[in-house]
Amino acid sequence: MPGSRKVFIKTFGCQMNVYDSERMIEALSPYGYASVDSPEDADLVVLNTCHIREKAAEKVYSELGRIRDIKEQRLTEGKKTQVAVAGCVAQAEGAEITKRAPVVDLVVGPQSYHRLPDLLFRAKTESRRLVDTAFPDEDKFANLPARDAGIKSNASNDAISRSAVSNASVQAAAFLTIQEGCDKFCTFCVVPYTRGMEFSRPVNELVKEAESLVRRGVSEITLLGQNVNAYHGQGLDGRQASLAQLIEILAKVEGIKRLRYTTSHANDMSDDLIEAHRVQEKLMPYLHLPFQAGADRILAAMNRKHTAQKYRDVVKKIRSARPDIALSTDIIVGFPGETEGEFQETLDLVSEIGFAQAFSFKYSARPGTPAATIADQVPDEVKSDRLARVQALLAKQQKTFNAHCVGRTFPVLFERSGRHEGQIVGRSPYLQLVHTNGDPGHLGHIVPVEISSANSHSLTGVIRAA
Ligand code: 5AD
Ligand code: SF4
Repeated sequence: MPGSRKVFIKTFGCQMNVYDSERMIEALSPYGYASVDSPEDADLVVLNTCHIREKAAEKVYSELGRIRDIKEQRLTEGKKTQVAVAGCVAQAEGAEITKRAPVVDLVVGPQSYHRLPDLLFRAKTESRRLVDTAFPDEDKFANLPARDAGIKSNASNDAISRSAVSNASVQAAAFLTIQEGCDKFCTFCVVPYTRGMEFSRPVNELVKEAESLVRRGVSEITLLGQNVNAYHGQGLDGRQASLAQLIEILAKVEGIKRLRYTTSHANDMSDDLIEAHRVQEKLMPYLHLPFQAGADRILAAMNRKHTAQKYRDVVKKIRSARPDIALSTDIIVGFPGETEGEFQETLDLVSEIGFAQAFSFKYSARPGTPAATIADQVPDEVKSDRLARVQALLAKQQKTFNAHCVGRTFPVLFERSGRHEGQIVGRSPYLQLVHTNGDPGHLGHIVPVEISSANSHSLTGVIRAA
C-alpha cells in the first residue's frame, strides 16, 4: 500500500550522504514508505550520519536524544517508531551506538543500506536490535531499485540541500555517485575506514541512472566521489574509462545540460580531465580542489603526496585550459605540529590562488587515524584563532568574486521558489545562488539573468530575454 508508512530522513555531512538518503527513500518506497518533513509524523526515522569531524559525530547523539523524546511521546499515542542510524558514524561505531543510545533499533553502514527494508522487517519481527556494517560482496548499487521517474525525496540536510524538494520546486539538479571510498590515506581522514577502498561504478550503469534522472526533469548532474577524479570504472568497450571519458559520454545524454564533479585530488587532475574543461561546454567552470595546507612539511605529514608548488602548477594548467574557472577548496588549520609560520603559508597560498568559495576546518583528531596519535596537538585556542583568520580572508575573496559578477549575464538553472512572493532561486555556472523575481514556470529551466547586486553568499538579478 504505497504511502501507508512514513519515513523521515535527516542527512548530515557531505553530498554523498544526500545522494545516499535519496537512494534509501527510493529503496523504501516499494514497501509503502513515503517521506515526511518531521520526525513527529514518522513511523521510521533514519539519521544518515557523518564521522568526518568530532562535532559532526556528536551532533548525531544529541539528535538521538530528541528522537528518543519523540518516540516516547508517539508511544503514548499508541504509535510505534523505528529508529535507524545509517552512514559513516554507523560504520565507525557500530554496536557502540545501540549501547550509548538505546532508542536505536538498527545500525546500517554506507555499504549495506540496500538491505534497509529487509533489516527493518527483521528488527521488527525478531524484536531485536540489528547492526549491519559489513562491506558486503554484493554491489549495493546493483541491488537498489532503478531511479524511476516521479519519485521525489525531501531528504533534509543541515548543510547542503541542493536536491531537496520543497513546495514550489522541481528537481532540476541531482547528485550521482560514480565513485566511492578512498585509497589515499591522508593521515587525518576517516573516509578509508568508513567508506572503504576505492570503487568506481561502470559507465553503462551511470548512463542509465543519468537517463532516469533526466526523465524526472533533472538537467544538471553533479558526479560524486570521495576521490572523484580518480574514477576508473569499466567503460562501454569493457576497458577502463577515465573521468574525462565518462564526462564525454554523459555530455551526450539527451537532456543533460550541465555537469559538475566533486571532490577532486590535485594528483589526479590528469591532462585529459583538464582538457575536458577546455572542450566540454557542459562542464561548468567551477572546480572544488582541496589543498588542505600550504606548508610542504604539513602536506607531507598529512600524506597528501603533493607539494604546494604542485598544487600551484595544477591550478595554472586548469586556468590556462579554462580561464574563467572559479575555484573552491578545503583547508584544515591546526594539524598536529603546525607552527604559526606554516599556517602563514596556508594564508599565502589562499592569497595567491584566490578562491570563489572554500570550506575551512579546525583539525579534529579522529580515532583510528594516524594523525590522532601525533603527540604535538595544537591547542584549541590556537586552532580557533587560525580558523578565524583564514575564514576572514576567504570571506573577503568570496565577496570580491561575487562583486565582480555584477553587470554580467549568467545562465541560471532555476530550482525553487524563494522566501518572498514572486521570487525564484537558481544557480549560476559558478554555483552561486541567484535570486530574481520570476514566473515559477521557469523552474527546471536555464534562463539568462543579468546580475544587479551581490552579497557575500548570493546574487540578485533580473531575467533577460533569451
Ligand atoms: N579534521 C578536520 N577536517 C577534516 N577534513 C577531513 N578530515 C578532517 C579532520 N580530521 C576536512 C578536509 C576534507 C573535508 C571533507 O573535511 O578538509 O577535504
Ligand atoms: Fe562524512 Fe566523509 Fe562520510 Fe561524507 S564520506 S558522511 S563527509 S565521513
